[in-house]
Amino acid sequence: MKKVLITGAAGFLGSHLCDRFIKEGYGVIAMDNLITGDLKNIEHLFKLEQFEFYNHDVTKFIHIPGELDYILHFASPASPIDYLKIPIQTLKVGALGTHNLLGLAKEKGARILIASTSEIYGDPLVHPQTEDYYGNVNTIGPRGVYDEAKRFQESMTMAYHRFHGLETRIVRIFNTYGPRMRLNDGRVIPAFMGQALRGEDLTVFGDGLQTRSFCYVDDEVEGIYRLLLSDYSYPVNIGNPNEITIKDFAEEIIKLTGTDQKIIYKPLPQDDPLQRQPDISKAKELLGWEPLIGREEGMKRTFDYFKTLSTEELQKTEHRDFSERNNR
Ligand SMILES: NC(=O)c1ccc[n+]([C@@H]2O[C@H](COP(=O)([O-])OP(=O)(O)OC[C@H]3O[C@@H](n4cnc5c(N)ncnc54)[C@H](O)[C@@H]3O)[C@@H](O)[C@H]2O)c1
Repeated sequence: MKKVLITGAAGFLGSHLCDRFIKEGYGVIAMDNLITGDLKNIEHLFKLEQFEFYNHDVTKFIHIPGELDYILHFASPASPIDYLKIPIQTLKVGALGTHNLLGLAKEKGARILIASTSEIYGDPLVHPQTEDYYGNVNTIGPRGVYDEAKRFQESMTMAYHRFHGLETRIVRIFNTYGPRMRLNDGRVIPAFMGQALRGEDLTVFGDGLQTRSFCYVDDEVEGIYRLLLSDYSYPVNIGNPNEITIKDFAEEIIKLTGTDQKIIYKPLPQDDPLQRQPDISKAKELLGWEPLIGREEGMKRTFDYFKTLSTEELQKTEHRDFSERNNR
């Protein structure tokens, strides 16, 4: 049985990847320190013999007994609320964590796939964003901790590939959504859906004319799976190019949830990108991949998930340990 290590396994994307690799018949070693993730995302897998879980911080030395075929490095705070509260951890997981995992891949002779992000393009001056665009990132702005950690992660991954001949893959993930997102993580979809379910008005930052392109999680996982098994070592955008303004999106959510909320406007946070749309020509050509699930269907499935949350969960604003201990 082939073995895969998935870091960030108790998080949104990591948990869906665990499901996918279990379904494909792999032995899955899941690793997470639960700083933003939740064991309830993977508890259904604990009974399976082919699944094991390590509660471990990837910025510390990693030891895994036995053979490993693949590593998927998805551990990292991923939403602005998270990485602005734990900036130092965010830099460390992108730098030290990635270094540890590249070392482990080298030791085991495993292929490693690194989760990068559209945020490496910053506030892009090229639209839509192609993989050969170098980005427009403010290194010292508050969001720099995430964007630069991810850029450094890509550089180190390519260095291991060139210098040690390691088999590496880099996926640049564009906004992905679906069940198991955290309601209070500050990302736009859970934020709108939470507000709709609590009967609050929907908050749009700025004039709402900034754009986003949302990819449903099953499509994203399919793209990542195909990239891992491909023979391509350079970054590949995986996302849905169907772009929408935040204002139009808020209106779609009001329609979907059947509520009569209004939209309220607040100032745009610093360095919030104004445009986001992946050019996925490379993924189409190399992987024969493109998203199949439209926004209407994906949002319906996601809203159905949020509707299953208890009133208590809906009211929770934060429940993470973002203490000093986690910010060194
Ligand atoms: N969801 C998206 O739209 C999106 C977009 C671009 C990139 N990504 C990338 O995908 C990955 C997963 O994102 P997500 O949306 O699932 O976020 P998430 O917060 O749901 O999951 C991240 C997981 O990593 C774990 N983690 C964080 N630091 C760790 C550490 N030091 N050691 C071990 N575990 C640690 C967290 O506890 C959490 O379970 C991240 O690398 C993120 O940058 C996600």
